[in-house]
Amino acid sequence: MEVVIVPDAKAGGVLIAETMARLLRRKPDALLGVATGSTPLPVYAALADQVRSGAVDASRARIAQLDEYVGLPAEHPESYRSVVRREVLEPLGIGMDAFMGPDGTAEDIPAACEAYDRALAEAGGVDLQLLGIGTDGHIGFNEPCSSLASRTRIKTLTQQTRVDNARFFDGDIDQVPHHVITQGIGTILEARHLVLLATGEGKADAVAATAEGPVAAVCPASALQLHPHATVVVDEAAAGKL
Ligand code: GLP
Repeated sequence: MEVVIVPDAKAGGVLIAETMARLLRRKPDALLGVATGSTPLPVYAALADQVRSGAVDASRARIAQLDEYVGLPAEHPESYRSVVRREVLEPLGIGMDAFMGPDGTAEDIPAACEAYDRALAEAGGVDLQLLGIGTDGHIGFNEPCSSLASRTRIKTLTQQTRVDNARFFDGDIDQVPHHVITQGIGTILEARHLVLLATGEGKADAVAATAEGPVAAVCPASALQLHPHATVVVDEAAAGKL
């Protein structure tokens, strides 16, 4: 695992967008795995800048989503499908036909999870998976004590994650779904390059456990230590406990 410390979130975004742009120049139809939450937004903004300036063409890129709430209609503004459309696909000029994501409204959720894992493999696998990290060390929605070999599946959110995510639902925790579909840790580890971005003091404990703690299910992100090509980009605040 390489750890790169940058001055601030914007610099982290620029650095990762450059990595993505290099990949897209080499492989224009690369499958980019994207994450939601606030942390990756500077990455998407920087990549959109690169597209606008003509430094890279993202129009053939394919986008795969990491996780999704169960039971939120796809058109709900906070469904991760809507968030990815708004923050990634539209600014980069990528159509929905190049998008894949778990179906949180499926009648048969376990079947939808299996179908998504299969679809990722059939698409040739994720070339670069961007990850954020929860304050408790979760990646995707793999909460602490998730199996390090887990596949895409339904999970119940911890109270802490629902509290953390209530800000996207007018601060009202009752609106935050209890269940989600997430790529498993084993699924995530199959991506060719993992890039985790963490910014802000609130992530410092999780970052220290990820990079310097034991590989253990209590900190799901520590599984990145097992990956042959994992890059952890942190700003100075998030690096505060390394
Ligand atoms: C959610 C998402 C994760 C994300 C995390 C942190 O739980 N499922 O993919 O990493 O939030 O979000 P933020 O970047 O807003 O702190």
